[in-house]
Amino acid sequence: MASSSSLFLLAALLGLASSMVTAFDNSPLQDFCVADMKSNVRVNGFPCKDPMAVVADDFFNKAMLDKPRDTMTSKVGSNVTNINIANFPGLNTLGISLARIDYAPLGVNTPHIHPRATELLTVLEGTLYLGFVTSNPNRLFSKVVTKGDVFVFPKAMIHFQMNLAHDKPAAALSSLNSQNPGVITIANAVFGSKPPISDDVLAKAFQVEKDLIKWLKSQFWENNHY
Ligand SMILES: *[C@@H]1O[C@H](CO)[C@@H](O)[C@H](O)[C@H]1NC(C)=O
Repeated sequence: MASSSSLFLLAALLGLASSMVTAFDNSPLQDFCVADMKSNVRVNGFPCKDPMAVVADDFFNKAMLDKPRDTMTSKVGSNVTNINIANFPGLNTLGISLARIDYAPLGVNTPHIHPRATELLTVLEGTLYLGFVTSNPNRLFSKVVTKGDVFVFPKAMIHFQMNLAHDKPAAALSSLNSQNPGVITIANAVFGSKPPISDDVLAKAFQVEKDLIKWLKSQFWENNHY
């Protein structure tokens, strides 16, 4: 009796473990699979370039992540530089990517989601107010962090950062456990989708008059992620 129930528990745990593994980017089945970005083959990810044609530069990106990016032209005061499969074919199948985030004084990396990745943020410079909101009942976990601090945003949670300094820029470096984390910026997705979501839906959802929804939709919803 005892052994059959512990067997059942083991089977349940194994089931849980395998479902957790498949919830992230697949593990590679070979040393590398440098993306052949020009292939017409459609697979989940990118097909592999001929391994004999692979060179050291396929595993390299002169990202210059030590250099601050321009934040002055951004309406929200931030600039996200992504190093992912879109500009780094060597990351294909490796389940990892990177971003540098620059913040103007009081700049915000506005609330957004990465549907496919957990994000580990390291503050390079300055002081940030940051946080994430859980699934219902929507608890906020937030903190003020400073140079050298690390904070994690669990996969698919709505999260944000703000530079608290009035007079200085800030910067952060984020690691993400997907070659293609994806970004859904909440304000843009809700008020700036193409074609737009109906005013009736949004007026009910936000409990405001349709005129306010129309005004929000008429704003220029900037994408600060590159
Ligand atoms: C982000 O920074 C790059 C490099 O400095 C710049 O070319 C780009 O225009 C900036 N984007 C925004 C929205 O400020």
